Amino acid sequence: MSSPTMNTENGPRVVIIGAGVGGLAMAIALKKKLNFENFTIVEKASSIGGTWRDNDYPGCACDIPVHWYSLSTEINPDWPEQFASQRDILQYWKRIYEKYNLEQYTRFNTRVIESTWDDKRQSWLVNTEKQTENGLVERTILEANVVVSAVGLFVLPFYAGIEGRERFKGIQMHSSRWNHSVNLSGKKVGVIGIGCSAAQIVPEISKDPSVQVVNICRTPTWFSPRGQSSYSAALRTIFRNIPGAAKFYRNFIAVSLGIQVTLLYMRFTAPKKYHKELTPNYPMGCKRVVLDPGYYASLHRPNVELAWGGVKEVLEDGVITGKGEKFELDIIVYGTGFQVLDPALNFYGREGKDLMGYFASKGGPEAYISTTYPGFPNLFTLLGPNTVTGHTSTLYGEEIQINYIFQLIKPILEGSVKSYEIKAEVADRYNVDLQKRISQMTWTECHNHYQAGENGKNTVTFPGSAFRFWRLLRKADYHNYICIVGNDGVESRKNRILEWDV
Ligand SMILES: *[C@@H]1O[C@H](CO)[C@@H](O)[C@H](O)[C@H]1NC(C)=O
Ligand SMILES: *[C@@H]1O[C@H](CO)[C@@H](O)[C@H](O)[C@H]1NC(C)=O
Repeated sequence: MSSPTMNTENGPRVVIIGAGVGGLAMAIALKKKLNFENFTIVEKASSIGGTWRDNDYPGCACDIPVHWYSLSTEINPDWPEQFASQRDILQYWKRIYEKYNLEQYTRFNTRVIESTWDDKRQSWLVNTEKQTENGLVERTILEANVVVSAVGLFVLPFYAGIEGRERFKGIQMHSSRWNHSVNLSGKKVGVIGIGCSAAQIVPEISKDPSVQVVNICRTPTWFSPRGQSSYSAALRTIFRNIPGAAKFYRNFIAVSLGIQVTLLYMRFTAPKKYHKELTPNYPMGCKRVVLDPGYYASLHRPNVELAWGGVKEVLEDGVITGKGEKFELDIIVYGTGFQVLDPALNFYGREGKDLMGYFASKGGPEAYISTTYPGFPNLFTLLGPNTVTGHTSTLYGEEIQINYIFQLIKPILEGSVKSYEIKAEVADRYNVDLQKRISQMTWTECHNHYQAGENGKNTVTFPGSAFRFWRLLRKADYHNYICIVGNDGVESRKNRILEWDV
């Protein structure tokens, strides 16, 4: 085991944690907007793509029009479909990755053990561990003036507390850990959940009539119609009969379609026997509204069955639902979503303060505008707490954050500033207001995994539109930060606005 230190002799350095979409967007922006190259991307897996690498289950596609899921600086006019497949999206990112020669900045198979702030040096020491091919572990400490954590929110599989999983004798897998060597043909497959991924998996795997699919759900989801390329007769009927529906649809403000259109869509598309149970009893906007990838229509297939009550327990040979129904299964697929916090956020800030401890003291994760933390100078997170606006592209949110982060790190990389740290009272005030706004919204009316902690604190949702998020983060509010100035003692904020072309 070795423990060399890579220090910042060559001037300021940035470490980006995670080579997913957010981390790559950050790296590209550093190169393209600042002409800055002294950065390192640390990635625990052996390839790029993050969420788009892990989620390769059958039918995986983006659930918002893909033009919203592209970098605003790297427009791809060649998307074959509006709801591009996972493969096409990953391809898009691989192309960009190559275009910017990002490989030379990336350390794969490398995990961050912990990061410690050195107040004297005004820099982070990022402790990494690399798994080498011959099974050895190589430790390196990267010194960084700035750390950008881009590990994302939707990382670790969530199993919704379902009991008895270890008992099952068949094959089981989470949607984000699809086992491609499994042959579903002729098998009884239980798909648990009715969120985004389950709704994509059910129509895809049931195309093979020999696959018996039972979809076990707990709470219905709101589905909005979506058109891949051609519009169904049902949808056209809706457009003709609901004033304004076609216009809304064209603008893709899915949620604005409103309850009427959504319910009508269900009645046209889903089997009658399921209508009652498929009707959510909570307001739209409570959970993510899913643009229907063909889920309702697939429920008509003779090899698809829908069951309610959730999974009470997994048995050796199947599952029992909350309603006491038993289903014998060969394969279980968990479409139960993600744990919203990676517990490996091991940051030790000023005076040894640790980030998880900070979260615990607040009853759950929180940040100043999803991005910075009091006690943790020069640490920035993409898709941090309370970023998700529910219906828009997370990448759009990340670009907004990157633009904000740039305003703070530019003086640091130029040397006029050593560090910026958000003032505790500013962060506290922001979060009190944020939780108040959330409590006034519909989010708390329904249960979903967008909550952490015993007290049900919502740590994922941003209470407001993407526009409000953009407005909040458009201009860095320097006076809210504790600033340690650089060697010449003058804080320079020139050229601080670097607007994206969004
Ligand atoms: C994937 O499925 C195969 C059987 O098709 C099984 O042998 C293997 O253990 C599974 N892999 C994992 C990681 O579960
Ligand atoms: C999957 O199993 C079916 C039936 O057992 C078989 O006909 C088919 O060839 C298999 N497919 C693959 C890819 O192995």
